[in-house]
Amino acid sequence: MPLPIWPPDADHIKKAADALRAGKLVAFPTETVYGLGADATQDSAVARIFEAKGRPRFNPLIVHLPSLQAAQAHARFDARARALAKAFWPGALTLVLPRRAETPLSLLVSAGLPTVALRVPQHPLALKLLRESGLALAAPSANRSGRLSPTLAAHVARSLEEAGALVAGVLDGGPCTLGLESTVIGLPEDGPPTLLRPGAIARAEIEAVLGMKLAEAAEEEGEAGRSSPGQLASHYAPEAPIRLNAKEVNRDEVLLAFGPDALQGAALTLNLSRQGDLREAAANLFRYLQELDAQAEGKRIAVMPVPETGLGEAINDRLRRAAAPRS
Ligand code: TXA
Ligand code: MG
Repeated sequence: MPLPIWPPDADHIKKAADALRAGKLVAFPTETVYGLGADATQDSAVARIFEAKGRPRFNPLIVHLPSLQAAQAHARFDARARALAKAFWPGALTLVLPRRAETPLSLLVSAGLPTVALRVPQHPLALKLLRESGLALAAPSANRSGRLSPTLAAHVARSLEEAGALVAGVLDGGPCTLGLESTVIGLPEDGPPTLLRPGAIARAEIEAVLGMKLAEAAEEEGEAGRSSPGQLASHYAPEAPIRLNAKEVNRDEVLLAFGPDALQGAALTLNLSRQGDLREAAANLFRYLQELDAQAEGKRIAVMPVPETGLGEAINDRLRRAAAPRS
């Protein structure tokens, strides 16, 4: 049974908040991607997220809050954390901080780590839902684990169809404006600020606020020692095989193009940004990969090079994971 898609009116926001308080899951839009939300203080509700997504239990979740003040009840903010929160919240930044001992958040959101990932989203509908429900909402991207993140309500409904019994509905906020997940920054008490996941806020903007370079996350395979456990090599995978860095293309391929000089000859072409604008490309990335995948019919997806500058770092990170060998 397809998931119900709810218009974003007051009645449906109330219905969504009631469902969340009752421990059910509700998908909702944020400015980055759609999230699959649950009351972050109820173990059974959080457990349903892992079940609905088929997500490994060692991969912790982001907890969404309506304000910095609300976030401070759950984690300890040092001067670096306060500076970043003031600069980028509400917005597409997630901070991984030491959990407060007295937080009512389920231990499942931290997957056994002494830290918790917090974010204040900017999307008006996400903020309305947070306020109406009065809850802290654990919300990973609203897709099956390892698949493309959804930037449209219809993509959520399709991706989570099989989990229909666990998900009450999808609040429809139209297409997500940023289209890439939040940037995740670790701020260990005894270590340097670390880029755990490149995302919708470019590294340089964060470094400018901190007044220093970000350290790199150690990317180790295997459960132990991975600093951001969600960063598995293969992720965001479409069904069709992907070929990166395409300099030519043929009729057996569909093309994800970038810039004014799109390659000619593919069976179907979608251009991330004709102007070569990385913000526009980020907003289109997952939706175009979904569309090409849906129409590939056994063909390969060729992808033109995207510059590594600014948001290009996060775009290339997602493309490399989409192309990585599947386990
Ligand atoms: O934009 C976003 O961040 C979206 C929207 C819905 O907010 N959410 C999202 O969640 O992308 P998810 O679960 O797909 O990605 C969360 C990332 C993962 O890479 C996870 O490993 C990392 O954050 N993370 C969460 N808690 C962590 C922790 N305590 N320590 C290290 N990494 C953590
Ligand atoms: Mg995800």
